[in-house]
Amino acid sequence: MVMRLLVLALLLMQPLPGPAQVAPAPADAARAQRTPDIHFAATPQPVVDAMLKLAGVTAADTVFDLGSGDGRLVILAAQKYGARGIGIELQPRLVAISREVAREGGVADRVTFIEGDLFAADISAATVVTLWLSPSVNARLGPKLQQELRPGTRIVSHQFPIEGWTPSAVVHVDDDRTDLFLWVVPPR
Ligand SMILES: C[S@@+](CC[C@H](N)C(=O)[O-])C[C@H]1O[C@@H](n2cnc3c(N)ncnc32)[C@H](O)[C@@H]1O
Repeated sequence: MVMRLLVLALLLMQPLPGPAQVAPAPADAARAQRTPDIHFAATPQPVVDAMLKLAGVTAADTVFDLGSGDGRLVILAAQKYGARGIGIELQPRLVAISREVAREGGVADRVTFIEGDLFAADISAATVVTLWLSPSVNARLGPKLQQELRPGTRIVSHQFPIEGWTPSAVVHVDDDRTDLFLWVVPPR
């Protein structure tokens, strides 16, 4: 009897298998540690319209939104102009919402949402890039845009310039409360 109790006690001291005992896979651990460079806020719909208009989006375009939030920019680009769209977003919850909205909006076949870091994404297929980040994030992003985007690609940023870049156009929208910046990647 004493021996049985001892064995039982030893068994109970063993760590139980379960989620709390399982070390995260390296990819999951990296994902969990990455904090967004800027928190989520949605571009108001009239400003989304103005950004796509300023970029001159057509059905021939592939629009990348870097930090795509709830997916509204690429979804509207697909719905209104028949463009293809790629949204890159770090937060899984926002990616799930974007996919659901695209499905409900009938453009799931034209848009893709990638859960990941915009700094690690391959953006070379873009013909239009949209941004609403921050001055410092735009400054860090500048070299990547310059290296990866093809000549003629249009970049539109909501509110913030890209340090050291001269815009082709600056327009004031939303009753002059918001600036939009346009750049066109020059020939190499
Ligand atoms: C201000 S919101 C803009 C959302 C959307 N582009 C719009 O204009 O409605 C910025 C988004 O960027 C995402 N974000 C921040 N840092 C990121 C990163 N390194 N990689 C991917 N997404 C990021 C945030 O989670 C957030 O959803």
